[in-house]
Amino acid sequence: MGADYIVKDINLADFGRKELDIAETEMPGLMALRAEFGEAKPLSGARIAGSLHMTIQTAVLIETLVHLGAEVRWASCNIFSTQDHAAAAIAARGIPVFAVKGETLEEYWAYTDRIFDFADGANMILDDGGDATMYILTGARVEEGETALIETPGSEEEIYFFAQIRKRLAAEPGWFVKQRHRIRGVSEETTTGVHRLYQLMEKGRLPFPAINVNDSVTKSKFDNKYGCKESLVDGIRRATDTMMAGKTAVVLGYGDVGKGSAASLRGAGARVQVTEIDPICALQAAMDGFEVVRLEDVAAKADIFVTTTGNKDVIRLEHMREMKDMAIVGNIGHFDNEIQVAALKNMTWTNIKDQVDMIGFPDGKRIILLSQGRLLNLGNATGHPSFVMSASFTNQVLAQIELFTKGDQYENQVYILPKHLDEKVARLHLAKIGVKLTELLPEQADYIGVAVDGPYKAEHYRY
Ligand code: NAI
Repeated sequence: MGADYIVKDINLADFGRKELDIAETEMPGLMALRAEFGEAKPLSGARIAGSLHMTIQTAVLIETLVHLGAEVRWASCNIFSTQDHAAAAIAARGIPVFAVKGETLEEYWAYTDRIFDFADGANMILDDGGDATMYILTGARVEEGETALIETPGSEEEIYFFAQIRKRLAAEPGWFVKQRHRIRGVSEETTTGVHRLYQLMEKGRLPFPAINVNDSVTKSKFDNKYGCKESLVDGIRRATDTMMAGKTAVVLGYGDVGKGSAASLRGAGARVQVTEIDPICALQAAMDGFEVVRLEDVAAKADIFVTTTGNKDVIRLEHMREMKDMAIVGNIGHFDNEIQVAALKNMTWTNIKDQVDMIGFPDGKRIILLSQGRLLNLGNATGHPSFVMSASFTNQVLAQIELFTKGDQYENQVYILPKHLDEKVARLHLAKIGVKLTELLPEQADYIGVAVDGPYKAEHYRY
């Protein structure tokens, strides 16, 4: 048998290790969990199938899970988001990883399949966007007779997804159902994956408990917001080197990612406009000082367009036809269907460099498309900085411990971590940036009706 990993170049491992060593110094939450649980090893016996952008920060997450006793197999949750030196460093440590920046969709699903290849199958999933979970659940439904599911694949994505299900079914009938039964729980990283889990739960199709990591306050109000604030402009700059100051940028969607993205562009000196469908978020954008517009009214005038909605068909062909020559178009939401990239197929594509394409329209106008519409902060840059990912991943590790050690106490529903753990995650990140927290006096705690040690807010508080 060959090596139990697929990476671009194992010789990148030393470089990856050096960056990992630096990242550890910026990820105090994960390092604190290593110190707290390193001896008890609460994840002993856990076989975690992980599908999450294979970056340097994720490598620190993986090594933390291993430090706590888990066996881990890993793939990236996007074809462009792997950092090959991070993958190499993980492979060199003997941890099976299947991830190459620029892998094909066919490889993507083959790698997703391989993360379940433990001798006894996986018993935990750590997911980002829900693809690993969907792979097992859809395959199991097909095995149980819903063959119509794989008969009419629509998108290119689906073609390869169903082809991989067929391949696995042919090789090992019964594999998906068996694998599904073994899973004790899934922890899900992002808004889009969480939507999928709630949909499954509502349809009675969630066969194991799930923890929604995204909606820990210390995840979505930090990674989605402050993370994108740093990584959005980073992606646009590395891709295009365009002057941002003075340009007009349109941010589509003003949720957590939209708020961070609009702040990112404003910080770089762009004049930022926002689109929204939700009156609350539209009002927030306006009161944060952004002009709230409709795309059809500004498509011909703006220079940079970024989708952040988690929705589909947000920038459509009709909008791109209106755009001016050399407008920059990109997405930072989880899936590439926010922009109608498929509708551009028959235009003239000129590849400028990896993850940057210039697309010529019949009238001679061109647009620059980043990462073929896939999340540009990970495709064109290196994603969020370590510090903010430490908060996200500390939630992930706590969720894995919870589900692995107490999964049988949970229903097959979607949960969020309790507030005292959310506060713990924040607390673990204070010292690194010199935050001095004020301590409540007992009388003050009584007066506002909380315990001196927290939790400090009611469940309905929105931060
Ligand atoms: P969210 O739900 O907070 O925000 C999405 C916003 O888009 C909402 O306010 C919604 O009203 C708005 N929206 C929906 N359809 C729209 C349309 N047609 N036009 C204009 N606005 C529309 O979600 P969040 O947390 O901001 O996540 C957004 C996406 O980004 C998700 O796919 C999520 O998985 C992904 N994500 C990406 C990250 C990255 O690093 N690239 C990090 C975190 C999340």
